[in-house]
Amino acid sequence: MPTLAARMSRAKPSAIMAVAEKAKQLKAAGRDIVSFSIGVPNFLPGEHVYAAVREALARDSGQYGSNRGADALLDAFLKHLEQGGLTGYTRKNVATGIGAKHVLYNLAEALLDPGDTIAFAVPYWTTYVDIAEIVDAKMRLLPCPASQNYKLTPAQLDAALPGVKVFLFNNPNNPTGMVYTRDEIAALADVLVKHPDVWVICDDIYNRMVFDGVGYHNFVNARPELRDRVIHVDSISKTYGMPGWRVGFIAGPEMVAQAFTTLNSNHITNVPEIVTAAAVAALSGPQDVPAQKCAEFQARRDQVLAAMNAIPGVVCPRPEGAFYVFPDISCAFGKSHNGVKIANDVDFCNALLEAKGVACVPGSAFGEPHALRISYTCPAEQLPKGLERFREFFAELA
Ligand SMILES: Cc1ncc(COP(=O)(O)O)c(C=O)c1O
Repeated sequence: MPTLAARMSRAKPSAIMAVAEKAKQLKAAGRDIVSFSIGVPNFLPGEHVYAAVREALARDSGQYGSNRGADALLDAFLKHLEQGGLTGYTRKNVATGIGAKHVLYNLAEALLDPGDTIAFAVPYWTTYVDIAEIVDAKMRLLPCPASQNYKLTPAQLDAALPGVKVFLFNNPNNPTGMVYTRDEIAALADVLVKHPDVWVICDDIYNRMVFDGVGYHNFVNARPELRDRVIHVDSISKTYGMPGWRVGFIAGPEMVAQAFTTLNSNHITNVPEIVTAAAVAALSGPQDVPAQKCAEFQARRDQVLAAMNAIPGVVCPRPEGAFYVFPDISCAFGKSHNGVKIANDVDFCNALLEAKGVACVPGSAFGEPHALRISYTCPAEQLPKGLERFREFFAELA
């Protein structure tokens, strides 16, 4: 009997999908489920995106396209970068892929040999670990608990970087929703300048979802000399409500964009023509949908935060972006709900789902077992219902 490649013993299906799957099954069985589990924006793009797709269908060439991405898409992304404050890039600095997940995977292939070290903060987006394991990289995990607002400190970064090949940074953050201020970015950038052999991947796909006027800031603007080794990752998934369309981007040094394009030529070939038209329309069309959703998410963040802060013992740093809240619920450990023992975050999420029909992702999926992730993009009427059930669940712990 032939065997699978050894790397498949390191590859695991997504833990987030597992919770979503269980919630789906309960729903199919007739339970009233509120899903706070999956990180999808839950809105559709503007009509101009669909109009562009219809037009593209009418003149579809049906041919293979550019491995880097169609010029129109590269140009639309370059303009998008400029609007977000990242200037000075040309078509040679950018490339496209099948969503940020594929983009990150490609970058791991392009930058990491087996045994090289990649460093990133904990809590992390689950896929970072999965990708590192598949490419057989060593991981240096930098713990950022609730007590430090889930944020990396300059001293911590400085101590961690010797021997690291790639530093992977995520701002605004999934799962915590935390956003680094201009000063915090500047302080981390100063540290990065001291470590010239480290590539820096900035997974900034939530950069248009920042609240409270904090703004989105990046290392390249803080210290322009970092431009030669910072790779910015972006995507249309969250900003434009288009996760299923699968378009992601990089902007960085020409050498990296070229390597990325070579990898594309050996697997995906190109982002499809119709999808390209949709992405160009999203990036260059009216920006009222993302702006309106950002305002809506800020109001929801307030609702969720108020609910968490009203529960004695729950510690919840204030997120300022994306659409996640990451409360530390470890005060519940050692208690029971209706006789069901809660020893850890997984027990908590299972009991909450079984008893109250509320699905959240256990923090251990993100490397932080004291917490859980609430994604608050569910239909508006579900949010107060889910939060009330969450409160009830806590009140019933004994
Ligand atoms: C931090 C982060 N990076 C990347 C991705 C992947 O996004 P995409 O849909 O573009 O593959 C996600 C999706 O949840 C994410 O949260």
